[in-house]
Amino acid sequence: MSDLSYLNPFRPGAGHMPPYLAGRNVEQEEMRRLLHQAVITENMVLTGLRGVGKTVLLEKLKPLAIQCGWLWANADLSESVSVTEETLATRILTDMALCAAPLLVREEKQFAFGFTSEERVIRQPLNFGVLKQYYDRVPGLVADKLKAVLEFVWDLLPKPVVKGVIFAYDEAQNMTDHAARDQYPLSVLLEVFQSIQRKGIPFMLVMTGLPTLFPKLVEARTYAERMFHIVFLKPLDEDATKEAILKPVEDTKCPIKFSPEAVDTIWRLSRGYPHFIQFICKEIFDIWLIKVANNEVPSIPYNEIILKLDTNFFSGRWAKATDRQRDLLHVISLLDGCDTEFTVQEVVAESKNAISKPFTASHVNQMLANLTDLGLIYKNRFGKYSLAVPLMSGFIKRQILSEASFNVN
Ligand SMILES: Nc1ncnc2c1ncn2[C@@H]1O[C@H](COP(=O)(O)OP(=O)(O)OP(=O)(O)O)[C@@H](O)[C@H]1O
Ligand SMILES: [Mg+2]
Repeated sequence: MSDLSYLNPFRPGAGHMPPYLAGRNVEQEEMRRLLHQAVITENMVLTGLRGVGKTVLLEKLKPLAIQCGWLWANADLSESVSVTEETLATRILTDMALCAAPLLVREEKQFAFGFTSEERVIRQPLNFGVLKQYYDRVPGLVADKLKAVLEFVWDLLPKPVVKGVIFAYDEAQNMTDHAARDQYPLSVLLEVFQSIQRKGIPFMLVMTGLPTLFPKLVEARTYAERMFHIVFLKPLDEDATKEAILKPVEDTKCPIKFSPEAVDTIWRLSRGYPHFIQFICKEIFDIWLIKVANNEVPSIPYNEIILKLDTNFFSGRWAKATDRQRDLLHVISLLDGCDTEFTVQEVVAESKNAISKPFTASHVNQMLANLTDLGLIYKNRFGKYSLAVPLMSGFIKRQILSEASFNVN
């Protein structure tokens, strides 16, 4: 009999730390290397498709940095699409104050009241309010003020106990310059860090986001190309996928054990994408727990899992596309490069074979731009396109089959 109360260890969901973080050793090594910089010449961009594990890896890098003597200031930029330069400044001051306040004390000499020349030392903790006052008093543009505050803070931090400060920003692809509103928060961020790093202040940026992030940084400031070391997170390889599946059920008390065949099926279904690994394992675990309790022989509910993945993960995104956009996505799903990258010309050529109303190149260009805004496509630095959602091509094919409304010649 299995213990029905045994807690399912798998954790699908945005930013949920997995029971076992598999692989990612190379990426952690990269971080260690960057932490050894005395003068910061390289910052980090951690990028990859949805659900590939950017947020949890960032969380895992934090203790690495702290152990090496760095302070860690972090924030999620999900809500900052319309951020202004002032809100960026508030963000940086807040993050700085939160991570450094316990270490920062400003000492001021004052004469005691009355007829005495006795000096007193006033110790004032440098919380957000004090940093903001300092910021407000510095003349100039937002970038000048921020640089001045960060230099001021670095002067006060106890060295060599503190090696530097990491500013870790998740979902950073949401930061945008707004020329129409004369607001350039992204450019200000890059300019401030580039300038203070040139002065030898070890404040490092670690930014994570979708693959649109790095092109966006370079568009804002061309020197961003040289400022960042890019870590492109790929799906886990077969060995790491096996570990992600098996380690969480290793406990001898765990009532569920995955056979080699089950592991192989999960590997083929998930193709190593961490979100899918967690999702599929959680589903199987729950179903098997009941089966084992009823003395039934468990097997992998392949079709049910695919259906659930389609409903939970893909269909919301598919619903946002118009009929014509869906036609285009179907054409893309037929390309050899649908799971890697493809060009406008390839889409145009395939559309002539696949549909009765083929697309012109200008049409494809425009529609790909719209699909990029919907978060379904992204364009890389070399002008090629990719589907922005992992394993989306398989879903599109299933969808078109089930809708049976596609006009194949
Ligand atoms: N190395 C790993 N081993 C096992 N599971 C992982 C690993 N990395 C991530 N996961 C799991 O994958 C899921 C997605 O992780 P996470 O939220 O970090 O992805 P993300 O890339 O930040 O996604 P998004 O683009 O939506 O922000 C989580 O359920 C997490 O537990
Ligand atoms: Mg994330």
